Amino acid sequence: MDFTTYIRDIEDFPKPGVVFKDITPLLKDPKVFQKASDALLGFTSNMQIDKVVGVDSRGFIFAPLLASRLGAGFVPVRKSGKLPFKTLSESYALEYGEDTLEMHTDAILKGEKVLVHDDVLATGGTASAVCKLVEKLGGEVVQCNFLIELTFLNGADKLNGYPIKALLQY
Ligand code: PRP
Ligand code: MG
Repeated sequence: MDFTTYIRDIEDFPKPGVVFKDITPLLKDPKVFQKASDALLGFTSNMQIDKVVGVDSRGFIFAPLLASRLGAGFVPVRKSGKLPFKTLSESYALEYGEDTLEMHTDAILKGEKVLVHDDVLATGGTASAVCKLVEKLGGEVVQCNFLIELTFLNGADKLNGYPIKALLQY
């Protein structure tokens, strides 16, 4: 299936000069949504996964679904100040300034095999911060998968050493 038909380019969003990849046309079509989850699931076939980590907020669309179908637990990584229990945090650079992501300290056990999922891999700042959080708890990142990889932003360089998969590359 050609998923690109269901990804809409929105020019100058969220700010001038940026072309936003809008995945809502893919999500609202039941068949395409199902096929996209099947395809993401195919990236980890025959792999043992204990936890799927999803990234606040657009990573929360597919990550719990993948976790459920893999028989794994779901772990939310959230932007700072949103998680109620004890947290670990990791900051990453934005174009201007920085942002912080947090994970509960009991979210992952030492030695657990972890799949990291987010909707988009852009500069890689987000995903690499998430991988660091997983590793701080002793988890092993066995794959980072995405719906979309914006290859021209070279996010893969920041995830050097981690297996990366994406449904679509631009
Ligand atoms: C977007 C996207 C990824 C991240 C990728 O999230 O959903 O999480 O940016 O960018 P990077 O590879 O350059 O770090 P955003 O922070 O805009 O928030 P949202 O998911 O809450 O919309
Ligand atoms: Mg995001």
